Amino acid sequence: MKVAVLTGGGDCPGLNAVIRAVVRRASAHGFEMMGLRDGWKGLLDDNHFRLTRETTSGILHRGGTILGTSRVNPFKVENGLERVKRAIERNDIHAVIAIGGEGTLSAATRMSQEGVRIVGVPKTIDNDLNGTDFTFGFDTAVGIATEAIDRLHSTAESHKRVIVCEVMGRHVGWIATYAGLAGGADVILVPEVPADLERVAEHIKHRHASGRTFSIVVVAEGTRIKLSHEGQEQLITSGALDEAGRPRLGGVGALLATEIERRTGYETRVSVLGHIQRGGAPTAHDRVLATRYGVHACDMVARGEFGKMAALRGNEIVSVDLSEATRELKKVPQEFFQVAQVFFG
Ligand code: F6P
Repeated sequence: MKVAVLTGGGDCPGLNAVIRAVVRRASAHGFEMMGLRDGWKGLLDDNHFRLTRETTSGILHRGGTILGTSRVNPFKVENGLERVKRAIERNDIHAVIAIGGEGTLSAATRMSQEGVRIVGVPKTIDNDLNGTDFTFGFDTAVGIATEAIDRLHSTAESHKRVIVCEVMGRHVGWIATYAGLAGGADVILVPEVPADLERVAEHIKHRHASGRTFSIVVVAEGTRIKLSHEGQEQLITSGALDEAGRPRLGGVGALLATEIERRTGYETRVSVLGHIQRGGAPTAHDRVLATRYGVHACDMVARGEFGKMAALRGNEIVSVDLSEATRELKKVPQEFFQVAQVFFG
């Protein structure tokens, strides 16, 4: 029986660990594995190759994905669904394992409703997928951001500056919250809570008045900032938006740094971590989680559990409906905002 695997959306540390686990487990079930190149594109263009124990050896610790990835959505391509179905039939593919985030799994949900046998694996450094407690890649991203915040502390302290550290998180602030708490940030700003600039500035001034000489502000890239302009209050996500209407990397951090310096008079710098958070080797935690997801996904195919996704609930790997994973984004719960002596929003 032939089973195909694809990786879609932004890359993420741990993708190779999933692929390796899927291929190893497949041999126990007697499946022949096929790797689709560049996400859904691999089916649209009939571009794939055979995956064996040998071709997936030595990849566990490697970042990125040996399959390549893209954000191509077959439902946004002319005759996309038919082309996908034709490729599946032509290559005698029994089932597809789709490893991806919100975009990839939303397409997988629709594909499954159209009769394609699909199993999902949740991936994103942002940890914003519903239905699972954690996605792999998140722990790695938090580790990288925490180390960066540690490093920013010593330079901020030496120069008596405010440093704004912008982390990834287009829609939610999981990375900002975890890395901010772990790194001892003084202010954490997330998309879930619009940031009040006046209050941020007051908080920093209060810290400095009580003897602190520096401050660290962590901000998620999708945070909205409340600004007064010509007497009107408005919410701004960045200085500039890209063609898709998303904040350009650096946008919100740079805006914040300028406004904080203007309001407090303290010298302020910005540091944008960007794709560094997504590159390189996964942590041990992510390698284990990714491996468990890969094994479970392969077992789901063997059991005929289609239209579902492997998910982490507590310490158990379970199967949940794909539609549950993609119905809405998983936000950071309010309780986190009271966890530490940190100022949020
Ligand atoms: O993987 C999700 C994410 O990290 C977001 O936080 C970020 O906005 C986005 O990817 C950027 O990805 P790209 O530059 O590949 O479009």
